[in-house]
Amino acid sequence: MNNILTCPVCKNTLILNENSYMCPKKHSFDIGKEKYVNLLLNSSQSTGDDKHMILARNAFLEKGYYIDIANKLFEIIKSSLPSNAHINIIDAGCGEGYYLNYLYESLQDNIISYYGFDISKKAVQIAAKRNQNINWFVGNAFNIPLLNHSIDFFISMFAFYSVNEVERILNNNGIAIIFRAGKNHLIELKSILYNELSLKDSNHEFDNARYIIDKQNLHCKIEVKSNEDIENLLLMTPHYWKTKLENKELLKYYNSLICTLDVDIYLVSKHKNTLNIL
Ligand SMILES: C[S@@+](CC[C@H](N)C(=O)[O-])C[C@H]1O[C@@H](n2cnc3c(N)ncnc32)[C@H](O)[C@@H]1O
Repeated sequence: MNNILTCPVCKNTLILNENSYMCPKKHSFDIGKEKYVNLLLNSSQSTGDDKHMILARNAFLEKGYYIDIANKLFEIIKSSLPSNAHINIIDAGCGEGYYLNYLYESLQDNIISYYGFDISKKAVQIAAKRNQNINWFVGNAFNIPLLNHSIDFFISMFAFYSVNEVERILNNNGIAIIFRAGKNHLIELKSILYNELSLKDSNHEFDNARYIIDKQNLHCKIEVKSNEDIENLLLMTPHYWKTKLENKELLKYYNSLICTLDVDIYLVSKHKNTLNIL
């Protein structure tokens, strides 16, 4: 494995030695028996999704409802992979690791190194149980412990990211792949939860248009097949926090729900002609 992780204290490169990472200044970070490393300073102050939300997302995604989204990510990366070059992929805000693990299993390519991190320790713990061939760490998307220009594919699936950090860690031919909820994403769920719907276009934080090399959309319907799954879906979304209790209560009358998936995908690079996506 190449060394691209950096020390959160002094920013020097971390070297893996058996079960711990150490930098030249001897700051050291153990990979515990759960097979992830915590590179977040002051992790007690971190926010991120709580245990309840992470377990709900894990249960929902495991049922395959979002497989079309995972497959879209796979197709984009597969079609853009340079041949015979070592590639580093990072999933920032990876949650419980569903998408990165799907990529690992679908690409089956030995010369790719996979990195996934989230600010939530619970999320990373579950991710690390899925797949021990991926380098999982607890970290902050606004201060990513990775070397400058070390990443070929930066993935953000419905998570926060910092444009400055993306630009810093992407190499010159690198691509950021940003998945965002589109205007009609889960509109049937929202119609139950809100008395008045406000439909907003998705957005990306890259304000300089020259970086956007492509925008794609995924649009399909899924049938969520039980009340438990519908409740889990709600817990995965920001609507859980935004909705009034009495509207959330309405969901208990549903045992199935057809839902629209409407996902906007932004492909971003430092140069317009990166790789062969267009
Ligand atoms: C909407 S969830 C998406 C999770 C995953 N990408 C998925 O789609 O299944 C957003 C994730 O971002 C994480 N998160 C929030 N703030 C973060 C930050 N500053 N750095 C890293 N992760 C963060 C949360 O803990 C949560 O797991």
